[in-house]
Amino acid sequence: FLAPRLSRRTLLRAGGTVLAAAAVAGGRSLAAASTDLVEVELLAKPRLQRILPEPAAPSPLITYAERFPGPVIRLRKGQRLRATLVNGLDEHTSIHWHGIRLPNAEDGVPFLTQAVTRPGERHTYEFTPPDSGSFFFHPHCNTVELLGRGLAGALIVEEEGGPKFDADLVCMVKDWILDKATGAFGEFTSDRGASRAGTFGTVSTVNGEIDPVIDVPANGDVRARLYNVDSSRVIDLRVEGTENGGGAWIIAVDGNPLPPRPLDGWPMAPAMRLDVVFRAPKEAGKTLRLTNVYSAEPKPLATFRATGPALPNKRFAPRALPAADIPEPDLKTAQVVPMAFSAAAAPQVFDSALLTTLPEADARCLAAKTFWAINQQSWPEGGHERLPPPLVTLDKGRSYVFELANLTPHLHPIHIHGYTFKVLSSDGRKVVPHHADTVLLEPKERLRVAIKADNPGDWMFHCHIIEHQDTGMMGYIRVA
Ligand code: C2O
Ligand code: CU
Repeated sequence: FLAPRLSRRTLLRAGGTVLAAAAVAGGRSLAAASTDLVEVELLAKPRLQRILPEPAAPSPLITYAERFPGPVIRLRKGQRLRATLVNGLDEHTSIHWHGIRLPNAEDGVPFLTQAVTRPGERHTYEFTPPDSGSFFFHPHCNTVELLGRGLAGALIVEEEGGPKFDADLVCMVKDWILDKATGAFGEFTSDRGASRAGTFGTVSTVNGEIDPVIDVPANGDVRARLYNVDSSRVIDLRVEGTENGGGAWIIAVDGNPLPPRPLDGWPMAPAMRLDVVFRAPKEAGKTLRLTNVYSAEPKPLATFRATGPALPNKRFAPRALPAADIPEPDLKTAQVVPMAFSAAAAPQVFDSALLTTLPEADARCLAAKTFWAINQQSWPEGGHERLPPPLVTLDKGRSYVFELANLTPHLHPIHIHGYTFKVLSSDGRKVVPHHADTVLLEPKERLRVAIKADNPGDWMFHCHIIEHQDTGMMGYIRVA
């Protein structure tokens, strides 16, 4: 859905016009201005949006812009973002900038890095993303419901130089837990889902639409920023029907460039992103399919349709993006930190007395059950307001190798705030060296990832299957 906007933006830029950053097309896209500061306002509130065809009613989403997915904030590398959250909800909230190596105070974790933003209040975040790439943002409390209703947007930091593309689009893959007859939401969580693989949606969409047709320039090289913003489902995408037969090529993982490789078996768990490039069909009207092949039955998710006069022939040769500048961990001196992901030893007794002392809206933020643990420590029930001690305290400036051990029979995408992992090796599979902010741990797998602890603060460390995060598989590391 970004192609037309991109050309508009390109035109504006080509014309040398200096614009204040402003919402375009109903606030869904915010074109970066030529100034170094980009300001946006994000009004989180309930909005009706049709996901299902009639006779189902439009569904009661919660979004940051007029429509999900929105907005798409685009910055150029080096530009500073000043984003003001306006809380139009009846519960407290915050914005976490997923994947950005930013100052701790801007990280958006209620009680840990900031005070909560109460209904009607505003909170301004300001930072300059150090890395280019495809990032996103979402709340960090009651996430199972808020993300479940669509509260997420894209933050894109465009790299300087590097290969040119004929289109640059965002594909946010997300399922919705909807009653297909009425359009109403079902339960966002259940003990069964939370204690196993998560609660799954009933309707699959890309950019909030069921099997949308996305126009791409005929014979053009299309950069698609694929996002999994679902709360539970792992997907494995393909672009099928390309005329060269090669499908799409991965050029970045979680925004981080890697040598181009075919999109052919890179599962994306919740929160993971892949930037891919593919060649659109030559002839207008011809189509490609975006398909999820993760389950036995491949599921078509979207259609790319060639439009316009065919662009001139050129060889299809995916090129690497400019390398990221992520501090290199010193593996020779790195200290090994074991992180074991397991079921909680014993379900903790829920202190329901605490709930009665809180306003109803705040209580929604609190976990009601504990099923999971990291190093045998579960995020306490009663949630953020009773902070546990950090999982580990790291010395600022030192390098660390986390040995992530999955002791469960389930998948866990493990996410670190404020840092980008260098993914080293696994005992269960061959690992392509890459950087990522979220790594998928397979059942029983041990995966080694490294960081240089250069960014001080308290940084969340958790599973991004939201029901796992909410039921104990969450902690934080302290860098001091
Ligand atoms: Cu995208 Cu702590 O999360
Ligand atoms: Cu998990």
